[in-house]
Amino acid sequence: MAEDLTIAEGAKGDIYQSLIPQIKGLLEGEPDLIANLANVAAALKEQFNWLWVGFYLVKPSSKTDGESELVLGPFQGPVACTRIKKGRGVCGTVWQNAETLIVPDVEKFPGHIACSSLSRSEIVIPLIKDIEVIGVLDVDADRLDQFDETDKKYLEEIISLISV
Ligand code: SME
Repeated sequence: MAEDLTIAEGAKGDIYQSLIPQIKGLLEGEPDLIANLANVAAALKEQFNWLWVGFYLVKPSSKTDGESELVLGPFQGPVACTRIKKGRGVCGTVWQNAETLIVPDVEKFPGHIACSSLSRSEIVIPLIKDIEVIGVLDVDADRLDQFDETDKKYLEEIISLISV
């Protein structure tokens, strides 16, 4: 039987529950957003060893057209695309819809932006200030179907701990 490295449902919840107090400790008393995003990305990468964990932040476009785009922020993993337009790829779609997206197979997501050919599945969570999306957390795995409602629940909780 092929070895299944997928973390069992319950075990994954337990891992998140032990990670959350550690993340709270990291964030406590630190107001700098970039420092906090960097530590959250590192803590998640360290814990789960996903292919890529990082943030994109909504910033003015590099062209002086008054538009905004997602710009690469703190991350852990292989080099990645630096700019993503609203509505493009998984990240741009989450920015547009302000809702978490779980993509079990990136090849089946129309318009998926392949920053790494090793990426197989993905989850993207919006970072919301008041009612506005100011960035996203993007997590990529090198295996199909690695994210589920447990990841959504706990990653949304972790994101809500970051003061934006
Ligand atoms: N796959 C993402 C792009 C970002 S990278 O995966 C780091 C997307 O489709 O938006």
